[in-house]
Amino acid sequence: MNSPVMQGININAPSYVKNAKLIAWVAEMAALTKPASIYWCDGSDEEYQRLCQQLVDGGTFKKLNPAKRPNSFLACSDPSDVARVEDRTYICSEKKENAGPTNNWMAPADMRALLQTGKDGEKALFDGCMAGRTMYVVPFSMGPLGSHIAHVGIELSDSAYVAVNQKIMTRMGKAVYDVIGTDGAFVPCVHTVGAPLAAGQADVKWPCNKTKYIVHYPETREIWSYGSGYGGNALLGKKCFALRIASNMGRDQGWLAEHMLILGVTNPQGKKYHVAAAFPSACGKTNFSMLVPPEAGFAGWKVTTIGDDIAWVKPHADGKMYAINPEAGYFGVAPGTNMHTNPNCMRSLDKNVIFTNVALTDDGDVWWEGMEKDTGTFPDHLIDWQGNDWTPAIAKETGAKAAHPNSRFTVAATNNPALDPEWDNPNGVAIDAFIFGGRRSTTVPLVTEARTWMEGVYMAATMGSETTAAAVGQMGVVRRDPFAMLPFCGYNMSDYFQHWLDMEHKLEESGHTLPKIYCVNWFRKGDDGKFVWPGYGDNMRVLKWMIDRLEGTAQGTATGFGVAPQYSEINWTGLDFSQAQFDSVTSLDKAAWKQEFALHSELFTQLAYHLPKELEETKAKLEASLTA
Ligand code: OXD
Ligand code: MN
Repeated sequence: MNSPVMQGININAPSYVKNAKLIAWVAEMAALTKPASIYWCDGSDEEYQRLCQQLVDGGTFKKLNPAKRPNSFLACSDPSDVARVEDRTYICSEKKENAGPTNNWMAPADMRALLQTGKDGEKALFDGCMAGRTMYVVPFSMGPLGSHIAHVGIELSDSAYVAVNQKIMTRMGKAVYDVIGTDGAFVPCVHTVGAPLAAGQADVKWPCNKTKYIVHYPETREIWSYGSGYGGNALLGKKCFALRIASNMGRDQGWLAEHMLILGVTNPQGKKYHVAAAFPSACGKTNFSMLVPPEAGFAGWKVTTIGDDIAWVKPHADGKMYAINPEAGYFGVAPGTNMHTNPNCMRSLDKNVIFTNVALTDDGDVWWEGMEKDTGTFPDHLIDWQGNDWTPAIAKETGAKAAHPNSRFTVAATNNPALDPEWDNPNGVAIDAFIFGGRRSTTVPLVTEARTWMEGVYMAATMGSETTAAAVGQMGVVRRDPFAMLPFCGYNMSDYFQHWLDMEHKLEESGHTLPKIYCVNWFRKGDDGKFVWPGYGDNMRVLKWMIDRLEGTAQGTATGFGVAPQYSEINWTGLDFSQAQFDSVTSLDKAAWKQEFALHSELFTQLAYHLPKELEETKAKLEASLTA
């Protein structure tokens, strides 16, 4: 055992932990947070089962009926702790302008005073925050262990819920210590639910704190999270590390950390392409990444999943950009998922799943809105995510949802029947195209191909989307969400745009082929307020057109907003979709685009500091041709 003793706490590091910086840091954090004990996770299955049982015993988990949902659990959170808290999320760079206008900022010294050191007699939030609890030391790799694209993090958390979720979501366990050896780098991540226990005080089933801080120090690559147990705020490998901190690493080291799914698509001749696609939270990334092509007209086509939420993309010496999925599991939105919208996902959820904030059926299984489409009926009775009785009559009367709209499943990628054989390849997969899409009921067409990298960056930078339940706040209002990275870009958004623009010159100079860029919108609505495009598996029709463009077999038609498909270029076999319907999802309405460009101008005014002038120039060109 390596056993520094800090203020009476023996950190008991196992002998296989040899990284001196890590041992010293755990000791320092233990001295600050004062847990009752420290537990070093080894990532074994035995440990997972033991911690799950402990969560069952403590009331956080309910074990589901093993005959219905083997080895699966349901956790229901405190009603105040159900989503990411963007207004409590901070990028504490040394200079405010480096966080930029889209991030909350506090000077690092002030934030450290608040969290770590205390000031003017005020106790720091992390001082004693783990009292009465166990500190779990959770070693994890984002990306295949030892991959040259992967990076390691160590999360210290006082939540066993976090430890078991991290086992599913990351490559978590002992082997990570071999990767960092005696002096290898890791991203230190400290998480607390912010609910210390006094001696003899009974715990609650979902401890959290009204005060929340999700804090990133980009220069020192540290993450500190206080007060929330919810996934996006607490599983620090995901949004905090793999996007906010990694976007900083990517800018400094010449690669991209993106809010993108990665999928493989293989044609009947066996030729395979890879695309990475960015959509805002809860806009169907998981569904698209697991897409099942329509039976009619797509015999021999196959879509396979590499990742459903995050991509790390690095240029390689062979002239291509390679992407890995830094995660090892899916933390997906449950409501709306069913055998029509995502059959591969439903099959992934058969066993070994942690559900959060879905409803409980009377026979010990789970239920969420959307499942009625599979069975044709609503259950007669449920216990909703807040522990109340739910019946169809109550729902009709009060509008109560059985499952929270942002309720989630946590499941290993290896449960996915459509998992790509290359998903764990340490070298990643070569990306042929990037796709960007928002949720827009009007204005933005079904699909266009950017004519240049610059135009693609413009489309991505100005993307708007109607807000969803994934973050606390008003739902359904259009907000600009550049690259689907608004809540996740860990530095100044305009510098991020510049980083994307610089990629073109850097890659072309070094003989790289740039992926093509597409913009999509599955969500256009008709005058009746209903979605016109069927979406889900039928998105394959759009994907196939993109492949045809890559192969040079679809000519497309030039529009003011890139190259669009001709009606005749889409494979319509098995779908009754008229030219008029096609026109209604592809039309470019001048008046709507006038308003749209006004909103782009607003965004550019907000992002004026360091905004690449090429974006203004591209706007002028597009505006002239679209609104003339
Ligand atoms: C997520 C999100 O959880 O984007 O993936 O909110
Ligand atoms: Mn996401």
